[in-house]
Amino acid sequence: MEESNPGTALIVTFRAGCIFGHPGAIWIGFSIFFYTKWMEAVTPPSVIDLEKQYLLQNYARLPVVLQRGKGCYVYDTSGKRYLDLLAGIGVNSLGYAHPRLTKVIREQAGRMIHCSNLYYHEYAGPLAERIARASGLARVFYCNSGTEANETALKMAKGYGHAISSGKYEIVALDNSFHGRTIGALSVTGQESYRRDFEPLMPGVRFVPRNDITALEQVVNERTCAIIMELVQGEGGIHAMTEEYVRKARELADRHNALLIFDEIQCGVGRTGTYFAYQLFDPAILPDIITVAKPIASGLALGLVACNERAAGVLTPGKHGTTFGGGPLVCRAGLEFFNILDELLPRITEVGSYFRMRLTEMQRQFSFIKEIRGVGLMIGVELEFSCKPVVLDCLENGMLINCTHDYTLRALPPYIVTEQEVDRAITILKRVFKKTKPPQAA
Ligand SMILES: Cc1ncc(COP(=O)(O)O)c(C=O)c1O
Repeated sequence: MEESNPGTALIVTFRAGCIFGHPGAIWIGFSIFFYTKWMEAVTPPSVIDLEKQYLLQNYARLPVVLQRGKGCYVYDTSGKRYLDLLAGIGVNSLGYAHPRLTKVIREQAGRMIHCSNLYYHEYAGPLAERIARASGLARVFYCNSGTEANETALKMAKGYGHAISSGKYEIVALDNSFHGRTIGALSVTGQESYRRDFEPLMPGVRFVPRNDITALEQVVNERTCAIIMELVQGEGGIHAMTEEYVRKARELADRHNALLIFDEIQCGVGRTGTYFAYQLFDPAILPDIITVAKPIASGLALGLVACNERAAGVLTPGKHGTTFGGGPLVCRAGLEFFNILDELLPRITEVGSYFRMRLTEMQRQFSFIKEIRGVGLMIGVELEFSCKPVVLDCLENGMLINCTHDYTLRALPPYIVTEQEVDRAITILKRVFKKTKPPQAA
């Protein structure tokens, strides 16, 4: 790329001045040079332009450059403050700059960030023990993201089925689900918009509508090696599975010797006010495998699979692996997160209920709010029209929230969010909704 170079301009002008012996040319050269330097100093390079020029254009980002955060608030480069109800899509579970998390990350970064899976380190075992205790599942495999965790679970399912018979490879998944962007995870994602351009995907996936017991009974059979579902569909618009449906899935998986996989990537690890969403049922409905990512290391990239011995037995030495997954820095952060989560769980339920109660009050005032859904701090507000303009208005009014499935405003706030912050969110939403004109009235 051609760039203007003030140094070259100076040299050229200076040379010209020397050759022609004109001191004015030297003076102009100096002026150009210092003016250009001054302009560079007062006009920071536009990171937005750089992204537009150099990054893959696969995101439609909102026009704001975020720089730092504290608690539930983030600040952009101009210093404007936003109440963050999205928390990096459910990742920043402890908000920003949490003192305990920051302390262990600083300390561990100075000791060891990564050491490869060829060696033991101090934190993988203790974190796995915490997860096993919290989940009731025996073994853990670490990776780096949600989609990778699902790839691992799918591989377990395929391997499990393969060991029984070559025809046992079908996976039952749900319409409207979201499990990630890699080919395996995309193959079990039940939304046309994500899949359409990448067909044909992995064969043998049978989709059924959520909470439809009859449909589930019709597709699960001896060819099924796994059933996979989110207990609360996140990207699909915050829709929970009924207890009856989940119990039936467990029963069918057992009857046909298939694995039951719960994708707890968005709804898990505290988000619903329990360690995992399946613990909302009484008694809990234990799956064979859970996949976990987003909140578990509060912003660092950690994904994992936790499973029982039956599923774990599939991946014997050499059958699966990762270079980055489960290093000392992320595992130590995950361990500290779990220590903090123990104290936060009851608050997640309380503040989540308060949030939904305040939203339900708002529903009386704004008839275009169709439904308030969710559990704990996983909240959906379905509108009668696309909520994308509302997201932009909220941004302007100092609040980050997102729109999923086009009509549903989604809040996944940090677990540390308080009633006062919820009140502030309600004030902002009211302000925005007062100015919102439903399309037919526009
Ligand atoms: C339920 C669920 N599964 C899987 C994923 C994919 O996770 P990742 O983006 O970390 O690959 C997501 C991401 O939003 C998710 O919500």
